[in-house]
Amino acid sequence: MTTKQLVEESRRWLGIINAHHLNEYKKRKIVADTVENFRSYYNRGYLDYRKSVTEGGEFAAIEWSGRGSVFEDVTGRRFVDCLGGYGIYSAGINHPKIVRAVKSQLERMPLSSQELLDPLRGALAELLGELAPGDLQKCFFISNGTDAIEGAMKLARLYTGKPGFVSAVRGFHGKSYGSLSLMGKAEYRLPFEPMLQDVYFVPFGDAPAIDAELRKAEAVGQQIAGVILEPVQGEAGAIVPPDDYWPAVREICTRHGVLLIADEVQTGMGRTGKMFALEHWDVAPDILCLGKALGGGVMPLSAFLSTPEIWKKLEENPFIHSSTFGGNPLACAAGIAAVNVTLEEDLPGQAAATGAYLLGELKELQKRYPDHLLEARGLGLLIGLEFVDTEFGYAVAAGLFKRGVLVAGTLLSARTLRIEPALAIPRALVDEVLEKLDDTLRELTE
Ligand SMILES: Cc1ncc(COP(=O)(O)O)c(C=O)c1O
Repeated sequence: MTTKQLVEESRRWLGIINAHHLNEYKKRKIVADTVENFRSYYNRGYLDYRKSVTEGGEFAAIEWSGRGSVFEDVTGRRFVDCLGGYGIYSAGINHPKIVRAVKSQLERMPLSSQELLDPLRGALAELLGELAPGDLQKCFFISNGTDAIEGAMKLARLYTGKPGFVSAVRGFHGKSYGSLSLMGKAEYRLPFEPMLQDVYFVPFGDAPAIDAELRKAEAVGQQIAGVILEPVQGEAGAIVPPDDYWPAVREICTRHGVLLIADEVQTGMGRTGKMFALEHWDVAPDILCLGKALGGGVMPLSAFLSTPEIWKKLEENPFIHSSTFGGNPLACAAGIAAVNVTLEEDLPGQAAATGAYLLGELKELQKRYPDHLLEARGLGLLIGLEFVDTEFGYAVAAGLFKRGVLVAGTLLSARTLRIEPALAIPRALVDEVLEKLDDTLRELTE
């Protein structure tokens, strides 16, 4: 394109962004343009991969607007959201209180001067420091889960002076080099080897395996800084560990003098029925990572928290770890509002109640389709449905999509579909999803 054409094209899109109403022609053109832009300029792989864009051989669903647990594509088709943007929409899509806080801050000061002290950063740090379990009083903000893990890994190394980590098979912590080094699935690691050395893997849910790994490391002189785990494995397919697992892990880490790092990027902020999932087992980690829903589904925001004792290492030189956009005023406004909404609307309590109901119904459904739906499991509203194979799981997701319900596979277990709706999803919508799931399974198994 010439410069003139680029100006025209960007102006056309600004017109669309700012429009209050789009006519049918414009809607159709947005669909066609989006598919073409993905094909030519972004990554055509998505067009083959996403059931939402290839359904019926038509590139139908271009995301446009949403509220609560329901969103619409650009042509006005309605979907019940049971994917929650992989866990970002715990407070629902477009929560009015969170949007309002961000809009107000946007008009006042969108990003940070980087030099003056930002009041919202301090305020959110206070809220999280008071909310977090144990002595986790200090925090640092960044914009995504991966960066929270990176920061946690650096802090653990800085504090202990040791390089090693223990992670879990099928654990997922992000895809940058540090976090990818903790990745528990070969497919995502192999093309990028070698990564950080000194990472050792144990099966998830097996506390004695961690003890054995740490003993082995001590015997041969391998230096371990921390054990890093998800409380409930999300991308592995909503794997809930045995009840005695977490107290045992805490005891083992303390006994061996290694830090316990909890990756609550997906489980935090009420998702599992408690504000932080480790509260189910009354365990406090040494470092806690948060992300996804922390930004209230409105802004990207993540954090890692630790104790004043461990944090001293970062205070010696606060620039030893920094981020231009981390903790920006818009993200912190969203975070403050998200904390408020999560507490005021008791989203963890709602997740516990709705999750228990939904999981109970799904277990009943499993009994009716035992050859195809192998297991329904989860905690709160982090629920996985494990199907007999990937193709069947994909067919269920596509069947639900056709019926106006959005779900998706989990990254490390394609045959496990996730159900991860807004924590305040109304019971009527839950029943609608259950009905449509039953209908889909009936169609596929007949
Ligand atoms: C447990 C966990 N940790 C880390 C991440 C990475 O977060 P992000 O994609 O925001 O970088 C994810 C994302 O799914 C996650 O589920």
